[in-house]
Amino acid sequence: MAEQTGARSPLEPVLVALAAGDDWSVTVHPTAGSTNELAADNPVPGRVIVADHQVAGRGRLDRSWVTPPGTALTFSVVIDPQLPDERWPLIPLIAGVAVVDAVRRLGADASVKWPNDVLLVDGTTTDGAGRKVCGILSERVGDPPRAVVGIGINVDLQEGELPVPTATSLAIAGIAVSRADLLGAVLAEFSRLLDEARADVPAFLETYRERCSTLGRPVMVLMPDGSRLEGEAVSVDDQGCLLVDDGTGPQRVAAGDVVHVRPA
Ligand code: BTN
Repeated sequence: MAEQTGARSPLEPVLVALAAGDDWSVTVHPTAGSTNELAADNPVPGRVIVADHQVAGRGRLDRSWVTPPGTALTFSVVIDPQLPDERWPLIPLIAGVAVVDAVRRLGADASVKWPNDVLLVDGTTTDGAGRKVCGILSERVGDPPRAVVGIGINVDLQEGELPVPTATSLAIAGIAVSRADLLGAVLAEFSRLLDEARADVPAFLETYRERCSTLGRPVMVLMPDGSRLEGEAVSVDDQGCLLVDDGTGPQRVAAGDVVHVRPA
């Protein structure tokens, strides 16, 4: 692995490219608005856009994603998913598992909150599954269509720098890793899991369900239309939708904001 010392030292492009490996073409921007937007401007499969400091990052549901300089790994990858259209909803799930598996290798107790927030148990957990360490924004762009998968991981933020009390960082959980090495690890897991999903969707979904801490929990889902659904998260179906049993049987959720109501 490429070594880069000093938690907040600037990203060194050569080391970042080395860590990413030959399958990816990496560009590092010292400062950028949103790496997803830069990636979407020229969506060539295999491109990886990294921002040392991302100042106008975009989140799901029109939220923003901004972190102090040097504290986060913020990047976007462009892929040709080579999946049928109806399987595209799996792409953010693949990215979520990739981050979970990469940080588990570092000793982190990580899981996915459906659909793709990555939670980390850091000793101060609010709901038993942990606080959010990573957000993922996956977008379909261009013609032919490509997927831009944007990933933001809180690496070195300290407690006072967190945007919300339900967030955390690898550093708070006691995990030290360079952002370059973390990028390399996530890209390797992402490639592996994308191959798995292309070859065998049921096998990937089993992997996803194993990593998903939402299952078996009481949840409250804020639906895109503003309504709320409460019940137990019972499964994730073959399309990647969450099934919530609200007492009248499983309700299928394709999009929404899940809150873990209390520990499983
Ligand atoms: C969320 O949890 O709401 C998703 C956050 C996604 C943030 C990442 S950071 C890198 C990439 N570029 C963006 O503008 N957003 C994503």
